[in-house]
Amino acid sequence: MESNAQYAERDYWESRFEKESHYEWLAGFDSYKEVLLKYINPAQRILHIGCGSSDLSMRLYELGFTNIANVDFSETLIASRKKEYPEMEWICDDITTLSQITDSSYDVVLEKATIEALLVKEKSVWSPSSSALRTLDAVWAAVSRVLVPQGIFLSISFTQPHFRVPALLRSPAWNVQTDLFGEFFHFFVYVCRKGEGNGEMMERYAKMSPDWLRSASEE
Ligand SMILES: C[S@@+](CC[C@H](N)C(=O)[O-])C[C@H]1O[C@@H](n2cnc3c(N)ncnc32)[C@H](O)[C@@H]1O
Repeated sequence: MESNAQYAERDYWESRFEKESHYEWLAGFDSYKEVLLKYINPAQRILHIGCGSSDLSMRLYELGFTNIANVDFSETLIASRKKEYPEMEWICDDITTLSQITDSSYDVVLEKATIEALLVKEKSVWSPSSSALRTLDAVWAAVSRVLVPQGIFLSISFTQPHFRVPALLRSPAWNVQTDLFGEFFHFFVYVCRKGEGNGEMMERYAKMSPDWLRSASEE
């Protein structure tokens, strides 16, 4: 039976990408383009993580963003994308380590709907498991490591700020702002700037959503 839990499994994505050449999770480029372009410029080196079969990188490339590398853990996807779009870099890697990526090598890290895929086995949006928190801590550490000191991490998501902002604030590396798009149903662009403190946001979210900020070793 089909279940969302499969989105956390690499094998699921491998077999899916044997057949799928384009699918857009959450929203298409035209719906978030205006918001996204407020935060990036074509001179920047961009790393798109969990790229899947989205056309986000190709649409940016058409707008002059020619320095883009894409990461996904599906070998099938990366091999076919390499052939189809050789003008960009395609790297098979796990976003919990980004082990193929050198420290401080990107100005922007970008993701859409991939953090959601990592959390599909969670039973409660208020009380994440320790395993989920460890996964997020690993992703944030990897993203922060590959960003330059003033780098920016942009996360395009349907998860409400109540839950996603404290999840992002687990990283001591960045300050988190929320932008949004969509007319009837809102989606979010979380803007994480490296090298800026969290200030009073941490205190606010520690009261509102404490479980997202607890130590990952507690159960
Ligand atoms: C929900 S899809 C989103 C795809 C694309 N970003 C979009 O918006 O259409 C999640 C993608 O993340 C990839 N993925 C999931 N977990 C990953 C991990 N730990 N490391 C690298 N890629 C991962 C999957 O292979 C899949 O392409």
